[in-house]
Amino acid sequence: MEKHYAVIGDPIEHSYSPGMHNAGYDSLGIDAVYHRFQVRSDRLAEAVEGLCALGFAGWNVTLPHKESIIAHLDVLTPQALRAGAVNTVKIHEGKKIGHNTDGDGFIRSIEGDLQSMAGKKAVLLGAGGAAKGIALALAERGMQIHILNRTPEKAMELAHIVRELGEKGSWGSFEPGPWLKDVDLLVQTTSLSLHEGPFPFTLAGISRQALVVDIIVKARETAFLEEARKQGCRTFGGMDMLLYQGALAWEFWLGGQAPIEAMRKGLKDQLLQQMFYKG
Ligand SMILES: NC(=O)c1ccc[n+]([C@@H]2O[C@H](COP(=O)([O-])OP(=O)(O)OC[C@H]3O[C@@H](n4cnc5c(N)ncnc54)[C@H](OP(=O)(O)O)[C@@H]3O)[C@@H](O)[C@H]2O)c1
Repeated sequence: MEKHYAVIGDPIEHSYSPGMHNAGYDSLGIDAVYHRFQVRSDRLAEAVEGLCALGFAGWNVTLPHKESIIAHLDVLTPQALRAGAVNTVKIHEGKKIGHNTDGDGFIRSIEGDLQSMAGKKAVLLGAGGAAKGIALALAERGMQIHILNRTPEKAMELAHIVRELGEKGSWGSFEPGPWLKDVDLLVQTTSLSLHEGPFPFTLAGISRQALVVDIIVKARETAFLEEARKQGCRTFGGMDMLLYQGALAWEFWLGGQAPIEAMRKGLKDQLLQQMFYKG
C-alpha cells in the first residue's frame, strides 16, 4: 500500500525535502509519496490529528514547530530529548515518536573531512535552534565549543548547556578575535547568509587548517564562504547537512540505508530549479 510522508512548517513553500525524498523513493521503487504542508501555529494540534487520521507513516517538522510539537507526541528519542526539539515524527504501533536528526546530520556531513573531533576547537556563529543541535552533537564527540552571538545572553545560555554535558563550552561577542587563529571548525548558523551582501565581519587571520561551514542552503556560494575560501580554508555549504538529516529521517522511518546519491540529485535539481525561477 502506498505510504505517505510530509514536512510541516510555516512558511514551507521553499522546502527542498519533497524533491530529495521523492527522488529517493523513485530510485528504489518504493511506493511512497512525500508531501509539503503549510501549518499555522494555532492549527498544529489539528494538523497532527489529521496526519494520524489520514494514515501518514511519519513526517518532518520545521520552523516554527520544532519545539511546540513535543506537547503532541507520545515518546521522544534520546536525540530529541538532548536537543529539546523534534524534526522527525514516526508513527509506530499507534504511538507518535519524536526524533531529531539535525545534529547527527551535521556530524555526518563533516565527518568525512574532519575525521577526529575529540579535543578540537569549534566556533559557532549564532545560538538559535540549529546552533543548539549542532553544538550538542559536537560536544558529545568531545569538541570544545566557543559560541558567538549577536544577543550574548543566548550564547552564554548555550555554553552553559554544553558545560552541563561535561564538555568545554565558552562564549564571546559576535566579532573577530583571537579565536580565529586556532579554530579547527567554524560553523555559520545565523540567518545572515540568507540575505545578499557582505558578512558583517572579516575572517582575516583565520587558521588555514580550519574547515568552514555555512549551514544556509543556497545554490550559490554565500559571501561568508567565499571569504573563507579566499583565506585558504576548506568550505562546505548547508546542502550536505540537509541531505544527511533527511537520510537519517529516512532510515528512522524505513530502516536500511537511505539512497544518498539519488537524494542528493533530487535536492540539487530542486535547488537549481529555484535558482532558475528566481532568475
Ligand atoms: N542546512 C540545514 O539542514 C539547516 C538546518 C536548520 C537550519 N538551517 C538554517 O540555519 C539558519 C538558522 O536557523 P535557526 O533554526 O537556528 O534559526 P533561529 O533559531 O531563528 O536563530 C537565528 C540565529 O541567527 C542570528 N541572527 C539573525 N539575524 C542576525 C543578524 N542580523 N546579525 C547577527 N545575527 C543574527 C540570531 O541571533 P540573535 O539570538 O541575536 O537573534 C540567532 O542566533 C536558518 O536560516 C536556516 O535556513 C539550515
